[in-house]
Amino acid sequence: MAFYVTTPIYYVNAAPHLGHAYTTIGADILARHHRQRGEDVFFLTGTDEHGEPVARVAEAEGITPKELADRNAQRFLDLLPRINVSNDFFIRTSDPRHKRRVQEVMQRVHDNGHVYKDLYEGWYCPRCADFKTEGEIGPGNTCMIHVGTPLDREREENWFFRLSTFEQPLKELYAQRPDFVAPRSRYNEALAFINGGLQDVSLSRAKLTWGVEVPWDEGHVFYVWFDALLNYYTALSFARDGEDLTELFWPARYHVLGKDILKFHAVFWPALLMAADIAVPERELIHGFLLMRDASGAESKMSKSLGNVLDPFEVMDKFGTDALRFYCFREVSFGHDGGVSTTTFGERYESELANDYGNLASRTLAMIGRYRDGVVPDVGVDPELAPDFDGLVEQVSELLDRAEITQALDRIWQRVRRLNRYVEERAPWQLAKDEAVASELDVTLRSLAEGIRAVTVLLHPYMPETAAKLLAALGEEELALESARFGARPGGGIVGELPQLFPKPQ
Ligand code: MSP
Repeated sequence: MAFYVTTPIYYVNAAPHLGHAYTTIGADILARHHRQRGEDVFFLTGTDEHGEPVARVAEAEGITPKELADRNAQRFLDLLPRINVSNDFFIRTSDPRHKRRVQEVMQRVHDNGHVYKDLYEGWYCPRCADFKTEGEIGPGNTCMIHVGTPLDREREENWFFRLSTFEQPLKELYAQRPDFVAPRSRYNEALAFINGGLQDVSLSRAKLTWGVEVPWDEGHVFYVWFDALLNYYTALSFARDGEDLTELFWPARYHVLGKDILKFHAVFWPALLMAADIAVPERELIHGFLLMRDASGAESKMSKSLGNVLDPFEVMDKFGTDALRFYCFREVSFGHDGGVSTTTFGERYESELANDYGNLASRTLAMIGRYRDGVVPDVGVDPELAPDFDGLVEQVSELLDRAEITQALDRIWQRVRRLNRYVEERAPWQLAKDEAVASELDVTLRSLAEGIRAVTVLLHPYMPETAAKLLAALGEEELALESARFGARPGGGIVGELPQLFPKPQ
């Protein structure tokens, strides 16, 4: 089964921060999980390189927009191996192949009669690259997203997209597909926007040269959002040399994105696709914002403009990549806003990663080494422990099908805790003292090894590097989801050396 998942493409007018990493890791978790199910996965991320903000920053720095884009796209590219993301392709919208495909699709929108030329006047935020509607204008004509940024009064001849004619088709789409946008609160928000009445939107910019040229009117470039959204579709036509993957992977299964760009994805995007006779994506998964919690406990949005950016590189240098991946999705419920801080990061690292999980694994392997010469006893698993793992694979899959990434992790972690209790209940170090209960010790060690293996297979999407190390030490490299069942693998394997998974940070 084909599974196509995307992240938003990130603006190259600034360097990546933890917020960007968060979305990308979220999509990576889903991609890895679906690979475990044996599906044919295609995972796309990339950079959004056109538009006013990029042109402005480049001008301020005295370089060309392309030079700026090349430099900053590289920073987003460099982030990917650091956060261990398994994307299949990285699209850059300045790629001529993307441009050609955008022109093709937009020409179809034009030929289908969905565009017209008119004069446009309105309040425009140069940082959002977006004209603002009445409710979106802050005090003194400022941007409500980039708080304090003055809006420009803009007036120019523009091409318009007849968004208004898609009001009814969009209502029907929402009625037929109650899970088109998740979570439900975001579905309701998008639907309320549609029900509020849709106005036509400006499709091109006459003043700007940095963008994709409008094929039927020289001197205009497409408004950056049209060119950007189309990346999800265009990439499939050139991501793999000599192959067009569109047939296989379109429509996308999931677009993963933050709540800030809901309107573009949940309203404009399906309308644009309908206008071009292209199928709309299956689902859009909207997550909240990571907020920085300062020493007083106050929270604020992490962004370039507020200057409180948590640098993912620094975090990973100190705690490792998997710790960052784990923490973000453990601490902040996917779909909601939530605070992150170095304090709670340190606490979770210590108590959950180092103790609950790392210690459990190292103790278990050490006991198998000491009491059974490094061989997992070849006996059945403990029938008293087994029911606590029943249905776990199904629960995790169902939760991930609803993009409940944090909930799914919580279900897995409940089993990690259960295994810790099991060690205490069984006290293998006591059993080891008495030859008469040798078979009890066998069952205990075997059940612990098997339990750790099962949770680790399920943790692979969240912490791929840790999972690989631990499974290697258990002599069990299998990652298929089915193998995550407790008792799915036989005993008798030889355990190896386990490096310390979560050392004390320097
Ligand atoms: N270029 C557009 C998207 C075009 S998609 C066709 C854009 N880029 S962006 O660089 O501003 O990235 C926005 C995305 O980054 C958000 O939707 C979200 O996924 C992520 N985040 C940025 N800051 C974030 C947080 N503080 N917390 C969580 N995610 C954040 O918009």
